[in-house]
Amino acid sequence: MRILLCGGAGYIGAHAYVVLVERGHDVVVADNFSNSSPGVLARLRQITGRPVPFQPLDLRDRDAVTGFFAHQAFDAVVHFAALKSVGESCERPLDYFHNNIGGTLNLLHGMREAGVERLVFSSSATVYGDPDHVPVREDARLQVTNPYGRTKLVMEELIGDLCRSDAGFHAANLRYFNPVGAHASGLIGEDPTGIPNNLMPYICQVAVGRRDRLSVFGGDWPTVDGTGVRDYIHVMDLARAHADALDFLVRERRSLTVNVGTGQGVSVLQLVEAFAQAAARRIPYQVVARRPGDVAEVYADPSLAQRTLGWRAELGVEAMCRDAWRWQSQNPQGYPVA
Ligand SMILES: NC(=O)c1ccc[n+]([C@@H]2O[C@H](COP(=O)([O-])OP(=O)(O)OC[C@H]3O[C@@H](n4cnc5c(N)ncnc54)[C@H](O)[C@@H]3O)[C@@H](O)[C@H]2O)c1
Repeated sequence: MRILLCGGAGYIGAHAYVVLVERGHDVVVADNFSNSSPGVLARLRQITGRPVPFQPLDLRDRDAVTGFFAHQAFDAVVHFAALKSVGESCERPLDYFHNNIGGTLNLLHGMREAGVERLVFSSSATVYGDPDHVPVREDARLQVTNPYGRTKLVMEELIGDLCRSDAGFHAANLRYFNPVGAHASGLIGEDPTGIPNNLMPYICQVAVGRRDRLSVFGGDWPTVDGTGVRDYIHVMDLARAHADALDFLVRERRSLTVNVGTGQGVSVLQLVEAFAQAAARRIPYQVVARRPGDVAEVYADPSLAQRTLGWRAELGVEAMCRDAWRWQSQNPQGYPVA
């Protein structure tokens, strides 16, 4: 298939690019680099051994999006392009609505005009908010606790309405849990700008000496060791889920919303310990107050993905930490500045 990756220069998009090319697809990356580095393209070329078709594109620019689709033929789109910081979304909700929801509307419009009828969408476990029970199934109550989460929920709903209005349009909403790790080459990985919002890149930056110590938010949660429990998933397993979702859309000609997680809950301190082992170094941390809006424990019931996509996570916490550390130690400051 000829596939467009919107936001394909980002962390998850870059890893999905590698898997899709390995599966024999013809893949084009589109991005505005608002949260990524052009340096990723050279690395993708190095990994795949071929030039990386790239299109500069800002999804907020409706004319540019429509114009682009008018001159290209695609069999499917994978839509990663979004702003994703919870804290920033509370400070600048309108920017998040404009970029994430507005950008998605423009993309859907462009796809419709051009007759592109398959979409894989990066949704998030954040749509479950504070779940009533774990493991979380796809039919759990949806509730959001911040503007970022609201954009993901609204985008799922917009896509759902479009699917209902057009029998030929099919989408796979992938609700990611907590992606971590990196490609085994150490050439691509997570490279956040500023202070990392997520645990693994923070641990990596402490390990490599860019930050003094990790703050652990809350040591009194009702969990195995008092720290928050999440479902960490290796980014290469997650990348594979996109290829499987595309195969599903072609094979089954229907839409799907599915969790992408391992089904295993891992606490903050368990992840810190696993990382310390993998990197053979101490990770200094201090336990501080809980963050408002955080929840104790969220992990997936991934059985629907297994039944529908034939997908299951294969890589464990050890591989996640080893690969994250390889990326960070080989690239202490992230991608080289061009
Ligand atoms: N990383 C996570 O923890 C996580 C968890 C659940 C869901 N998600 C979702 O997965 C997707 C990818 O996440 P990621 O971690 O790779 O993030 P990322 O920021 O690394 O990648 C997103 C990419 O989209 C691009 N982008 C943003 N707005 C754009 C626009 N208007 N036009 C064109 N490009 C634009 C950015 O430049 C970036 O390259 C996002 O939609 C995110 O909400 C991520």
